[in-house]
Amino acid sequence: VNISHSNSRVSAVLPTGESVEILLYGATIISWKDAKGNEKLWLSEAAKLDGSKAVRGGVPLVFPVFGTAPDHAPTSKLPQHGFARSSRWEFLGKSTSESSTLSSSSAGDDSVKLDFGLSPSNLSEESRKAWPFEFGLIYSVTLGRESLTTSLVVRNEGEKAWEFQTLMHTYFRIKDISQISITGLESSPYTDKVLSGASFTSPSTALTLSSKTDRVYTPAGGPSSAVIIKEGGKKKFGIVRDNMSEVVVWNPWAEDARGMADFSPNEGYKEMLCVEAGAVKGWQKLEQGETWEGGQVIMAAN
Ligand code: BG6
Repeated sequence: VNISHSNSRVSAVLPTGESVEILLYGATIISWKDAKGNEKLWLSEAAKLDGSKAVRGGVPLVFPVFGTAPDHAPTSKLPQHGFARSSRWEFLGKSTSESSTLSSSSAGDDSVKLDFGLSPSNLSEESRKAWPFEFGLIYSVTLGRESLTTSLVVRNEGEKAWEFQTLMHTYFRIKDISQISITGLESSPYTDKVLSGASFTSPSTALTLSSKTDRVYTPAGGPSSAVIIKEGGKKKFGIVRDNMSEVVVWNPWAEDARGMADFSPNEGYKEMLCVEAGAVKGWQKLEQGETWEGGQVIMAAN
């Protein structure tokens, strides 16, 4: 596995050609390619990659608040989606592994795991003031032959209990939003942010998108039921969650896309879809010394 680490980003390439690239800013994954070099993630052409604004595209990590929470005093002062996506993380190193111990191929070539850490010492003065709790985050990005796994360990390093929400805000690259159907969210409760957070239960049919969509689903199949993204009826991505009860489906559509300065091209909304694994309903509470762990495995079909 070939790892390169500069001042601002880390990238890894498997011997078979699959690759991943992560900015230290936000520990944001900005590229994931298969062996043929096909990009799996959507990244805006106008995304800021210099640390001046959260990245528009890839996989930004949301912590400790999803959206804003004006009614939740401890997080009410934080910007939208918290500070993790706009703080500079530390690269903690890599570990490699083989998918099978019986494999005779050279060791450590099947996957690579990159670890990133964030603690209060990495935060801006402003974020520290807005959220003065003692915490430690370890975010791991594992690149496999056909999958990308992201997992987060959250630990309360202080004496006082605190609460958080988290979400992995994946921007999937697709060819044509009108050809997309999503399964795994059938007959599930959801709230619709486009309709002021009203509650519904989804029909028993697959989800398709034809206008601005911003929904928080609690899949009826439970936190580990798979969500499948199909394009033209063919499976494109599969997402399996661990300890993440919610799935957010977001597409800004034409008007909102035009309204975002860092969203480019304007028509890019047709080539992206956010399906986001998260723990965003209510709050995860950690007492002193307690740890929470969650994540997702994304499988890509060719
Ligand atoms: C989604 C939210 O997760 O993120 C949307 O549900 C929000 O409401 C979107 O618009 C993008 O957020 P931001 O802060 O990156 O523009």
